[in-house]
Amino acid sequence: MSIENKVVVITGASSGIGAATTRALAKKHAKLVIGARRLDRLNELKNEFPDEQIITQKVDVTNFDEVQSLVDTAVKNFGRVDVLYNNAGIMPVNALENAARSEWQQILNVNVMGVLNGISAALPTMIKQQSGQIMATDSVAGHVVVPNLAVYNGSKFAVRAIMEGLRQEQHNNNIRTTIVSPGSVSTELYKSINNQENREAEINVEKQIGLSAENIASSVVFAIDSPDNMDVNEVIIRPIKQNI
Ligand SMILES: NC(=O)c1ccc[n+]([C@@H]2O[C@H](COP(=O)([O-])OP(=O)(O)OC[C@H]3O[C@@H](n4cnc5c(N)ncnc54)[C@H](OP(=O)(O)O)[C@@H]3O)[C@@H](O)[C@H]2O)c1
Repeated sequence: MSIENKVVVITGASSGIGAATTRALAKKHAKLVIGARRLDRLNELKNEFPDEQIITQKVDVTNFDEVQSLVDTAVKNFGRVDVLYNNAGIMPVNALENAARSEWQQILNVNVMGVLNGISAALPTMIKQQSGQIMATDSVAGHVVVPNLAVYNGSKFAVRAIMEGLRQEQHNNNIRTTIVSPGSVSTELYKSINNQENREAEINVEKQIGLSAENIASSVVFAIDSPDNMDVNEVIIRPIKQNI
């Protein structure tokens, strides 16, 4: 099926990689349902493409009912869901000794439970359709551990494990699974780091070598646009100068 006929649901579409992916898919005339908490940002994005079919909806991915409602919106309006892109994520990194327990909980709620909520919301429809694709933005941090990122690392390792489990359980239902694992990308992500020293260090790296959100979006489009019998399971994308 060509992208033009695909119904794609994207979380975390109000900025960064999610917004860039929305733009890339809108240019290819996909039917889009885009979610995040900042509805004003989603509506600004939709207004860039007055001729395309884009539905915006406020969603907090930590709330299962809201994620289910996002997927239901796609089914109600477009009759199906071909792709769910679980992209929403946060990265308030901190050394473990700083005991930032509420940050840890929030990372797990958004990065891990958010993905699980998406899987749970979309899977029944995709099994019924006997087709679909569930994607997630993982990270190089889901493959390699570094100091100060332990909890974020844990969340992204978990996403990789969950998505591989999903692949093994659902490939016979023709449900494709894809994780896209970027290295440093210039987005708003690093603003979510509360620890000033860590924030400045990450922003410094991102400013010097970071890829653009559009670079990552092009890989998402590649995975969606690949033939139905081809399952792009993992894509790792580092800036050429990134050593980790
Ligand atoms: N930038 C990088 O270097 C990098 C590298 C590797 C992986 N990643 C991953 O890429 C993904 C996208 O991040 P980004 O870099 O594009 O950063 P970003 O610009 O900060 O985008 C994050 C998106 O997630 C949404 N979000 C956060 N919490 C949410 C919640 N509870 N419910 C719904 N949406 C929520 C935000 O929207 P609202 O605030 O409007 O809800 C925003 O749209 C994340 O999973 C991140 O871990 C990024």
